[in-house]
Amino acid sequence: MLTKTVIEPFRIKSVEPIRWTTREQREQLLRAAHYNLFLLPADDVLIDLLTDSGTGAMSTHQWAAIMEGDESYAGSRSFDRFRNSIQDIFGYQNVIPTHQGRAAERILFSVACKKGDVVPNNTHFDTTRANVEFVGAEAVDLPIPEARRPSIRLPFKGNMDVAGLKDLIARVGRERIPLVMLTVTNNSGGGQPVSMENTRAVSAVCHEHGIPLYFDACRFAENAYFIKLREKGYESKTPKQIAQEMFALGDGCTMSAKKDGMANIGGFLCTNDDVLARQEKDLLILTEGYPTYGGLAGRDLEAIAVGVQEALEEDYLHYRIASTAYLGNHLSERGVPIVEPPGGHAIYLDARAFLPQIPLDQFPGVALAAELYLEGGIRSVEIGTLMFAASAKMDLVRLAIPRRVYTQSHIDYVVEMILRVWDRRQDVKGMRLTYEAPFLRHFTAHLEPIA
Ligand code: F0G
Repeated sequence: MLTKTVIEPFRIKSVEPIRWTTREQREQLLRAAHYNLFLLPADDVLIDLLTDSGTGAMSTHQWAAIMEGDESYAGSRSFDRFRNSIQDIFGYQNVIPTHQGRAAERILFSVACKKGDVVPNNTHFDTTRANVEFVGAEAVDLPIPEARRPSIRLPFKGNMDVAGLKDLIARVGRERIPLVMLTVTNNSGGGQPVSMENTRAVSAVCHEHGIPLYFDACRFAENAYFIKLREKGYESKTPKQIAQEMFALGDGCTMSAKKDGMANIGGFLCTNDDVLARQEKDLLILTEGYPTYGGLAGRDLEAIAVGVQEALEEDYLHYRIASTAYLGNHLSERGVPIVEPPGGHAIYLDARAFLPQIPLDQFPGVALAAELYLEGGIRSVEIGTLMFAASAKMDLVRLAIPRRVYTQSHIDYVVEMILRVWDRRQDVKGMRLTYEAPFLRHFTAHLEPIA
């Protein structure tokens, strides 16, 4: 329904208290965590926007389905419900459950890729890139050029550079490209959607060269709703019809059910290739579990079966996209630099523009994230120089919004705290690294402020 006030399309039946701390306590906690928000105890965080992954609230229907979980080792009834629900939306022949998205990635790339191969993606998420590289293949990002410019507003800033894809195929040869991947929405690119037109163009290039197209489908429902809102010809289609049309253009997908699966754990791998599916299931048995549970409990399969359908409900998506935009628009109208336009699951602050006085080797994103915690107990995550070192194209601070968890007044509070930091931004100082691990250093790094 189109009304001026967008309300949360649910009422609250169970509440989880959150805890206030004083500024003095937060200063001490932050010091003890070496200025790395991953190292904070979650109890000392007031509003946790670290990730939208596995942090959502389940519905009464999901909790009811959990009681129906069939925990049989093989042939579980819950697996049938899971497969049927997923096939209804995704349409792929083989559905393989996994404990989360990266397990699906590891199995897909272990079976489909080998050393020397090249995998193009609009933008690889960090676990996807790591799993491609782990088998000795090269992960190539091919976003449209505008995706790297935070202030540019485009309806489908998550699109793949189709000319770039054609060039890459011509340069390295079709035989070195085992598959092409499209990430919907493009998380690392700011939660920006991919259009149906772009998907169709990518699919045509792939199929002309006999290369399978896979989706990293984590936020497929949000992507479908952006298409409904922004792409001509889709206004009167349901999000589910749009998702079905998109997946029909590909050959399979990986999925983290911790995002648009509306579950706290789980994932899956789909493919239309029966030979590949057999090899994937063999590997699944080795490391995840029997193919009718794949490392999950029967009750988890039930929660996902209900969750993927709920993620496509229009009332929910209307509220979801509107509430993310609400946060973004209230910040940008006060001049706070964010990645434009607001994405589906998160708002990204542009730390280089927010704190221009801090050189890149002093981690402007880490400094900004630390200030947000000090100011208001808000936890966010740096996506920039600490995460990607010198190859970082931007320094962003992501405010990811858990699904169905926070109300509008929580978001108003977040806006107020960010604006307070904005008003005293010239006083914020850079950071120095005091410890780093040899890889994925952002999770465990220690830092200290430069006096
Ligand atoms: N692909 C994308 C686009 C993701 O955003 C994630 C996870 C994964 C794959 C891996 O899924 O966590 O279930 O193994 N993203 C989370 C985040 C962690 O915070 O953005 P997973």
